[in-house]
Amino acid sequence: MHHFKWRMAFLCLLNLGLITGCASDNEEDLYANPGTCDTSAVTFSGTMNAILENRGCKGCHGAASPSGGVILDSFAEVQKRANSGQLMGAITHAPGFTPMPFGGTKISDCEIASIKKWIDNGTPNN
Ligand code: HEC
Repeated sequence: MHHFKWRMAFLCLLNLGLITGCASDNEEDLYANPGTCDTSAVTFSGTMNAILENRGCKGCHGAASPSGGVILDSFAEVQKRANSGQLMGAITHAPGFTPMPFGGTKISDCEIASIKKWIDNGTPNN
C-alpha cells in the first residue's frame, strides 16, 4: 500500500511537467480557428492517440505498469474503457469516477467532444 502511494506521487510529479508542457501545443492543433471545434474527422490513430499522448494519459497508463490497471496505449484497451463508460466518466470528472488526468487539469472541451464523437461513432479502429 505504501509502495503504491509513493509510486503514484512520483508518477504525478513526472507527468505534471508533461501536461503543462504540452497543453498549449495541443490546443493550437485542435483549434485551427479559435472558438470552433471540428469533430467531423475524428479517428483513433490520429485524434485519440494524440490526445492520450499529449495529455499524459499514456505515461501513466502504459501496458508495462498501468496506473489503476487501466491500459490506454492499445486500441482494444481504450475501446474497453470507452465501452465501460469509464473513459468519459473520468475525463468529464463525473461523480463516481476518479477525475483524469490524475492530479492534473481537465482536458479541453474540444478534446472531450472529440472523444465523445469517437465513442458515438462506435469506437472505430480507424
Ligand atoms: C499521473 C498519472 C495519471 C495520468 C496522467 C492519468 N491517469 Fe488515469 N489513472 C491514474 C490512476 C492512479 C488511476 C487509478 C485511480 C483509482 O483507482 O482511483 C487512474 C484511473 C483511470 C481510469 C479509471 C477511472 C475510474 O474511475 O474508473 C481511467 C478511465 C483513466 N485513468 C483514464 C485516463 C485518461 C483518459 C488520462 C488522460 C486524459 C489519464 N487517465 C491520465 C493515473 C493517471
